Amino acid sequence: MKVCVVGTGYVGLVTGACLAHVGHQVICVDNNEAKVALMQSGQSPIYEPGLTEIMQAAMQTDRLHFTTDLAAGVDHGDVIFIAVGTPPLPTGESDTRYVEAVARGIGQHLTTGYKVIVNKSTVPIGSGDWVRRIVLDAVAERQEKVTAEFDVVSNPEFLREGSAVYDTFNPDRIVLGGNNPKAIDRMAALYAPIVTRVFAENSKLSPVPVVRTDLSSAEMIKYAANAFLATKISFINEVANICDRVGADVTQVAQGIGLDSRIGSKFLQAGIGWGGSCFPKDVAALIHTANDYGYKAELLEAAVSANQRQRVLAIEKLQQVLGILKGKTIGLLGLTFKPDTDDMRDTPALDLIVHLSRLGAKVKAFDPMYVENSHGFQSVPEQVILTTSPEQLAENCDAIVLVTDWQQFRQLDYAQLAVRMNSAIAIDGRNYLDPESMTEAGFFYIGIGRPSAGNSFAAMRSTQISVAV
Ligand code: UDX
Ligand code: UDX
Repeated sequence: MKVCVVGTGYVGLVTGACLAHVGHQVICVDNNEAKVALMQSGQSPIYEPGLTEIMQAAMQTDRLHFTTDLAAGVDHGDVIFIAVGTPPLPTGESDTRYVEAVARGIGQHLTTGYKVIVNKSTVPIGSGDWVRRIVLDAVAERQEKVTAEFDVVSNPEFLREGSAVYDTFNPDRIVLGGNNPKAIDRMAALYAPIVTRVFAENSKLSPVPVVRTDLSSAEMIKYAANAFLATKISFINEVANICDRVGADVTQVAQGIGLDSRIGSKFLQAGIGWGGSCFPKDVAALIHTANDYGYKAELLEAAVSANQRQRVLAIEKLQQVLGILKGKTIGLLGLTFKPDTDDMRDTPALDLIVHLSRLGAKVKAFDPMYVENSHGFQSVPEQVILTTSPEQLAENCDAIVLVTDWQQFRQLDYAQLAVRMNSAIAIDGRNYLDPESMTEAGFFYIGIGRPSAGNSFAAMRSTQISVAV
């Protein structure tokens, strides 16, 4: 099938490359010329495991092309994906101006045939009809006879950064929302190789469930899924904070409740809060939509405020163990909002940097992605001293905080790091390290909701210090 994907960000590029990989003819359109030139040379502008290989293979078989020419993309695509960003506005609403611009552009370039226009971007509920209106208006403005027909389908993405290629080929479900069965049938045909698991890790599993529904329900499924997962993390973080006070271990508690199939074991990793380009934006947008319709989404508001508190919990723990932070040096192990991505959007590291700086601490940081791709880290505030190795990070630090659960952080020689530090204190913001090995390496180890054997942090629980957020 002929496919056009407009927007080659974390979602659009993965979607375009993977659809080309399964055999479709894909043109990816982006208005960023430098990005398009880079992709035309076979390079991915983002770090996503497996993506470059898939891109290059599809380009070699002539199934994947990149252009800035929207008209060419619209003319080519039987299916046209809109996958531009929908960043949050200060009010919590999604900024839909890029979706609007692309929808208008599609209307300006439609000529003949039947097209399915797909909202892949996460857009406010009701956007399917809104996109349809914008395309129709743009067609009407041309005052010429246009024979093209189209339908709008909502096909939300559930791709985790860092495993987006895997998630594309191994989805839990595919959601298709629309009013015309003809459009849904075309989408089902597009995804047939994925539904039948031809490219899946385990091709023997039964076919991927396809949820056929209306536009608004499909749009709501996306928001509800992310809001549920974010709330689940806020829940376990709250349990962790109670564990900290009563001396229970949240990692054991998570295992114990996760084995209940009604609860499930995933997304029960307590830590210093959720971030990234989707959870904060999508939960805020759902709260905003509810408000627009006269409903106060109290549970979601609580999930957000619990997360805001969690994102500065490491400061509270540092104050408990170090006292005054002014003049101290704190090293952040990891900056990205999760491992296996170079994405810094809404990472908890940014909150820590702001508060540590405000309290007069010097902040150093090490992230494996900074070593690979330093230009992606321009969003790091300039007062942060970026280092290129964990050893350099540890030098003269009063404490380190593990912010991102990069796999390589499990293999570090912590005994070596400990001797380089002023005081060997580790706040494990993801409960990712083994408390006993850390203690053996000479560290005073502090997890999240996880009393540590061999050190006396539990005794310090009585001196609670709050951080003004
Ligand atoms: C996507 C979704 O679309 C968003 O709604 C979802 O919630 C998260 O994933 P993302 O892939 O992260 O967004 O977007 P981003 O990385 O910002 O990339 C957007 C791309 O679209 C950029 O390459 C940008 O250059 C391009 N773009 C933007 C256009 O081609 N045209 C425009 O008018 C605007
Ligand atoms: C999310 C959705 O999971 C995905 O379906 C899509 O809609 C895009 O948004 P992503 O933001 O890439 O994916 O990462 P995800 O793995 O969901 O993690 C989000 C945040 O939650 C990260 O900051 C992560 O560290 C945190 N997290 C995740 C936890 O704190 N604990 C957990 O148990 C899981």
